[in-house]
Amino acid sequence: MIRIENVSKTYDGVNWAVHELSLTLEAGEFVVVLGKSGSGKSTLIRLLNRLVEPSAGRIFLGGDEITGASPARLRRLRRRMGMIFQEYNLVPRLPVLTNALTGALGEISPAASLFNHFPAAAAKRARGHLVRLGLGERIYQRADRLSGGQKQRVGIARALMQEPEVLLADEPVSSLDPSTSKVILDILQGVHRDRGVTVICNLHLPALARDYGTRVLGLRKGRLVFDGPPENLDDSAVHNVYDED
Ligand SMILES: Nc1ncnc2c1ncn2[C@@H]1O[C@H](COP(=O)(O)OP(=O)(O)O)[C@@H](O)[C@H]1O
Ligand SMILES: [Mg+2]
Repeated sequence: MIRIENVSKTYDGVNWAVHELSLTLEAGEFVVVLGKSGSGKSTLIRLLNRLVEPSAGRIFLGGDEITGASPARLRRLRRRMGMIFQEYNLVPRLPVLTNALTGALGEISPAASLFNHFPAAAAKRARGHLVRLGLGERIYQRADRLSGGQKQRVGIARALMQEPEVLLADEPVSSLDPSTSKVILDILQGVHRDRGVTVICNLHLPALARDYGTRVLGLRKGRLVFDGPPENLDDSAVHNVYDED
């Protein structure tokens, strides 16, 4: 589904944020990426939809190469990958419904979205996602009035509007308390299970990786130091990912 071939990234020409990474992620996996701050987790996620340009290597989504794709082709490829952010990235002043609808911008003309005129079909789908995510009562509320957990549910609804094959989640629960984190990860697990969406999720807690991942990747200084099922993530594997040298 996603093939990463010998990908490296340096931002400054000196240090490797990601170094010589080769990986195949299969359709239907729930991949959790673990690693200390600075280990390259965000870079890896952002390389996948080319928010970050690789310094070397190639990346494929299905049979389509993401690296080197023209702008028009890249737009089409990005539509297949929904993204969820640690800080939600909502437009604070806008209502929940409008925020969710921005996920469908690829199918709406820029002029229409400028005037907040979204097609009824898209609005109906957005409402459906919001209701299923427990936000039915909040549809017309401004996004900045919501709790963190509610904001992240809007972020998920927005990503689902793309009907993505892949969900890329960069530390989606790092700003949330443990019980809210569980609510959000349970939702991602439901999307994975019920819609067959491939999930790639950066987390920093090994315990959550064990609970939610079907496959765990461990990054250390941009290199892959663990790749296996959660049951193989024993204490020595965790040390190998997190310990100082
Ligand atoms: N935009 C950037 N410019 C320069 N260096 C960056 C940038 N983004 C990340 N880095 C560096 O790349 C390395 C990996 O960072 P990142 O991918 O953000 O790791 P993580 O998400 O695991 O904390 C770090 O050394 C970080 O300082
Ligand atoms: Mg990060």
